Parts: sequence; structure tokens; C-alpha cells
Amino acid sequence: MNALERKILEKGVVIGEDILKVDMFLNHQIDVELIRQMGEDFYAHFCHKPVNKVLTVEASGIAIACFTALKFGVPAVFAKKGYHKNVGSNVYSAEVFSFTKGISYQITVMKDYLTADDHVLFVDDFLANGAAAEGVIQMIRAAGATLEGIGIAIEKGFQPGGDKLRGQGIDLYSLAIVEKMKEGSILLREHEA
Ligand code: G4P
Repeated sequence: MNALERKILEKGVVIGEDILKVDMFLNHQIDVELIRQMGEDFYAHFCHKPVNKVLTVEASGIAIACFTALKFGVPAVFAKKGYHKNVGSNVYSAEVFSFTKGISYQITVMKDYLTADDHVLFVDDFLANGAAAEGVIQMIRAAGATLEGIGIAIEKGFQPGGDKLRGQGIDLYSLAIVEKMKEGSILLREHEA
């Protein structure tokens, strides 16, 4: 069991059957040592790939992207959410529908920071339905960049995002996969030997 999995079992709070609250170490207050370790774990998995950029979506992905990028010695870039008037047409953008929040939002990255020369590792805090990841993949394709892999802190294995992305042949590596949540308890998927 890795440090993130231990922390989830120790501090995670289950809301209903499908929301895991991790505000106390990931989404609001940040356990910096834990995130540093996560950056190392992503590096260990993806270090054989020619990653030259770590991409995420604001806000909670930023800390994870920074520690991961630090290990690779490359820049971290975050896609901005919402409609930004001041960036003009010099952006890649995608529409993302959040099933968890029941809203659509736009994500954008300036063309200066995502180019055809880029070999991108996308990282994020949660993977649920995969809508954010699909939006990011759309922007990577539009830029002519290469997606080298996806690193996720917490994948909700009972939602379809993980299977969809793996089904596309993407190297998706999740540090913790929540199999099920019921009556306050959390069941994590065991790692393959
Ligand atoms: P998807 O991209 O995989 O389809 O996920 P979805 O739209 O359903 O999730 C939207 C937002 O809700 C994302 O945060 C995601 O991280 C978060 N989320 C999804 N499931 C959970 C959960 O079980 N627990 C918690 N704590 N968050 C969850 P976001 O809007 O991008 O927020 P932030 O990055 O600005 O914090």
C-alpha cells in the first residue's frame, strides 16, 4: 500500500456512495510531503518516456503537476477554467462536462505553452468519468503534441473514465483506485503483483 492509499483510508471521508472528500490533504489543505512522494511515484512510472511537459487542469492538479515536473526537470502547465477574454484566439480550448458537478466549463491553454514539439504527461487529482482528461486530450491533439501518459492520484474505479482511457491504449497510471464506497467505508483496488 502506498502513502496516498494509507492517507485515503486514514483521513478520507465518504459522502454518499460516490464522493470521496480529501480536503484535508489534497483538495484544500495540502500535505506537501505526500504530494512530493506522488511526484516521485509518477516519475518512477513514466521516467522512460520523453516527457518534456507536465500538464494539468486548475486548481487541485497544480501541486501534483509541480512536484512531478520538478522530478522530470520540465515545466508544469495548467489549463485554465472558465471563459477568459484576455487571451484572444491564441489558445486551444475544449468544453468539459462535469458529471460530478452537473455543469459544463471551458478549459484553455495558450498556444505558446502547448506545441507540436511537446511530449506531455497529463496529471490530475481525480479521475471519475474522464471528461476533463478527454478535454485535455482534445487540446493535445489540436496542438499536434504527443500524449505520453496520464497520472492520476485517485481514480474512482466504479466510474467509467479509467476503462475508457485504457481502452484507447493510453498509459494510465493511478496511484489509488477506489473500487467501492459504502456506509462510510472505502474499498481500494489491490495492486497487480
Ligand atoms: P471527470 O473529469 O473524470 O469526468 O470528473 P468530473 O467532471 O465528474 O469531476 C469534476 C470535478 O469533481 C473535478 O474537480 C474532480 O476532481 C472532482 N471530483 C470528482 N469526483 C470526486 C470525488 O469523489 N471527490 C472529490 N473531492 N472530488 C471529486 P474540479 O472541479 O476540477 O475541482 P478543482 O480541481 O478545481 O478542485
